[in-house]
Amino acid sequence: MKHFLAVVFGAALVTLVSAAGTDGAISFEYHRYEELRKALVSVWLQCPTITRIYTIGESFEGRELLVLEMSDNPGTHEPGEPEFKYIANMHGNEAVGRELLIYLAQYLCNQYQQGNETIIDLIHNTRIHLMPSMNPDGFEKAASQPGEIKDWFVGRSNAQGVDLNRNFPDLDRIIYINEREGGANNHLLQNMKKAVDENTKLAPETKAVIHWIMDIPFVLSANLHGGDVVANYPYDETRTGSTHEYSASPDDVMFKSLARAYSMYNPVMSDPHRAPCRKNDDDSSFKDGITNGGAWYSVPGGMQDFNYLSSNCFEITLELSCDKFPNEETLKSYWEQNRNSLVNYIEQVHRGVKGFVRDLQGNPISNATVSVEGIDHDITTAKDGDYWRLLAPGNYKVAASAPGYLTVIKKVAVPYSPATRVDFELESLMERKEEEREELMDWWKMMSETLNF
Ligand SMILES: *[C@@H]1O[C@H](CO)[C@@H](O)[C@H](O)[C@H]1NC(C)=O
Ligand SMILES: *[C@@H]1O[C@H](CO)[C@@H](O)[C@H](O)[C@H]1NC(C)=O
Ligand SMILES: [Zn+2]
Repeated sequence: MKHFLAVVFGAALVTLVSAAGTDGAISFEYHRYEELRKALVSVWLQCPTITRIYTIGESFEGRELLVLEMSDNPGTHEPGEPEFKYIANMHGNEAVGRELLIYLAQYLCNQYQQGNETIIDLIHNTRIHLMPSMNPDGFEKAASQPGEIKDWFVGRSNAQGVDLNRNFPDLDRIIYINEREGGANNHLLQNMKKAVDENTKLAPETKAVIHWIMDIPFVLSANLHGGDVVANYPYDETRTGSTHEYSASPDDVMFKSLARAYSMYNPVMSDPHRAPCRKNDDDSSFKDGITNGGAWYSVPGGMQDFNYLSSNCFEITLELSCDKFPNEETLKSYWEQNRNSLVNYIEQVHRGVKGFVRDLQGNPISNATVSVEGIDHDITTAKDGDYWRLLAPGNYKVAASAPGYLTVIKKVAVPYSPATRVDFELESLMERKEEEREELMDWWKMMSETLNF
């Protein structure tokens, strides 16, 4: 953050202001690295009270991994307010998502200024993070190819040749063992940040995103790709290691609902008669524009499953276009196809159960466990004791527990939306022991008096 603003202010704020303009028009064209920066700065200048630009680190070649944040209080986590992220362009040659996030930022800023109640509510009640490019080096390489037709692979990997969507720690292998033999069902990298930093196999882009995922209490996310048209949900890696196999996560019902919340609003993705992108493509696992990842093809080391298994964040993967780097003239139509989906998907963060876990004195209990009967995947409370548990409609038993406290279980009815508020007050075992001791003392005193010891 500091570094980025210093560069902007120091070098060229004046020219940026005049070049960017503040008319709010969306420019439906490809943005190279410098243009991407300018586009984000332009949104920030137009909507300074609800935006912030920061960087989570640098690519291998030293380009910044820029994020535009949109919230009524940019820069802070507000207790009780859920956090959402979109990440695009982790495959550098899959360019549509990168552009859509730039257009989305501009659109949200414009609609906010024009008084659109839906967008104002969304920005006031959600902390939204948009990262248009996780692989800016790959994009520059792909975009530098001459001519309109881009190669299917050039620029996919980062500058070291690492495929970033195969580079995350393979936590699926651990969860599949834990399912059989017992063990943690969430936060599998707990207390292992140092091991991440020291792991030389992880690309700088991957490391930066791992820290981001583990540091911010994200609730929901999507990872924007290209090369097909479908919303893909966990697990991406199959249990047996076979190439195609439905691989349900404990939250399969909710993940399907989330994927549909995207595909439904995209007329191309949800079209049951859409022909496969290429004649020989196997789309047999696609239904209503969604697919389980493993059923389509197994991906070990992907970012989607990593989110779910290392943090509280639910992530799906969106394939947005048959062509990875389509002609510039088509970008506007991709925006039109995806605009409502992009907004509707953010709104999914306000589903399920949410609230606070506190002690009897009202102090927040962070890192408490929130579990749902019948779903073998717990989530944990954030710093202020706040939590968000995405759930499909239904009746649930939800439990909050923390070491040294008595567990509390509540019955909850969950509608499609909005999230049901459920707060928990946990009694500490120390207090309970003290109460019991006092009761015993009273009893003893009474007995001694009665019996005239
Ligand atoms: C407000 O934003 C929503 C969500 O993008 C959109 O569907 C709606 O058309 C917008 N309203 C107006 C008046 O533009
Ligand atoms: C959170 O709780 C788990 C076990 O309940 C523990 O292993 C972990 O260290 C805790 N994390 C923090 C940051 O306190
Ligand atoms: Zn991809």
